Amino acid sequence: MPTIRGLNIDPPLLNSSCPWASDFDQLKELYDCKYTGAVTTRTATLDGFDEDPGTHKVAFALGQTASLNSYGYSPHPLSKYLQWIETLYKNQNPDSKCKPIILSVAPTDAAQLGVIMTAIQGFRHSVLKTLPSQPVLAVELNTSCPNIPNHPPPAYDMATLTPLLQVLASTFQADPTLVIGLKLAPFVYRDQMEGVVRTIAGLVDQEGRSPIAFLTSTNTLGGCVMFADQVSQKTTSASTAGVDAAPSMALPTTFGGLAGEPLHYLSLGNIMTLSSMLASSPIPALHNVGIIGVGGVTTPAAYQRMRKAGAAAVACATALGINGVTVFERLGAE
Ligand SMILES: Cc1cc2nc3c(=O)[nH]c(=O)nc-3n(C[C@H](O)[C@H](O)[C@H](O)COP(=O)(O)O)c2cc1C
Repeated sequence: MPTIRGLNIDPPLLNSSCPWASDFDQLKELYDCKYTGAVTTRTATLDGFDEDPGTHKVAFALGQTASLNSYGYSPHPLSKYLQWIETLYKNQNPDSKCKPIILSVAPTDAAQLGVIMTAIQGFRHSVLKTLPSQPVLAVELNTSCPNIPNHPPPAYDMATLTPLLQVLASTFQADPTLVIGLKLAPFVYRDQMEGVVRTIAGLVDQEGRSPIAFLTSTNTLGGCVMFADQVSQKTTSASTAGVDAAPSMALPTTFGGLAGEPLHYLSLGNIMTLSSMLASSPIPALHNVGIIGVGGVTTPAAYQRMRKAGAAAVACATALGINGVTVFERLGAE
């Protein structure tokens, strides 16, 4: 069974970063759910993202488990997530084992990523390492949000991605116990994935270690459109933001990131390609880079397909948004 270095996700099922993992109560519910093996936070920024309820929304599709969203990142700053994670771990039942938490982060640039990593490392060393349960807090750099104006996803551009990865590599050099992952965009041709794998290979150190322990594939597919008459009633009941601003479009921004069932095929293709590239790499350190498979996981069969395609663990967002945490019991069923 494929594994992720330093991360024991058991069962190998979790939520991916999304607005249903945004505040303390949501994170606690995901943490307490016995069918999740880990929890991923919504993407945090240093100071909190300026969320506008008139612009940042999610629409669920009629007749299938699919979504289109225009969200940016979490309005809650990184410091809030660190505080909430501390509370979760400190209130942990001493008889049950600690679940790993994956803290999703996004910086404005490499310098700010340095500040973010210093804050996380300070927290791990001053707070988490003093706890008897020794919980694992991993970091997932979100390189793939398609909805930030004037900030194209770095996953599509190695010149933008590389300086970010160098910050992660130097953090890892100072402390190789840190588990670091990248949230990747959906790619539509092989050379894009070769570029990412080559860039990650370039980070492998003299001792043959890869600073990147896992890849989470895939994020939503940007630039998609849904008309208002394609939207389900769930949109108003299951999401915190209703769809009401644009008369004929599902989102006030018109364009957004597509997720759920229509993304599943592309995500499977990305996971299968990435896992075979990693496994056949001439650089042994890449053989141990694990994949968290995301994209259209809405049924137990879809979960199994992700595992067959090479995912060490499987995550979902849209199905969680529609069904709540009870979805994990169903997805993990044999
Ligand atoms: C409403 C919504 C908001 C999301 N926000 C984030 C985010 O903040 N950070 C992130 O890395 N991915 C985000 N995602 C992407 C999901 O984590 C996931 O990669 C994608 O939705 C595909 O999975 P799914 O088909 O199970 O929804 C978001 C997805 C949705 C639907």
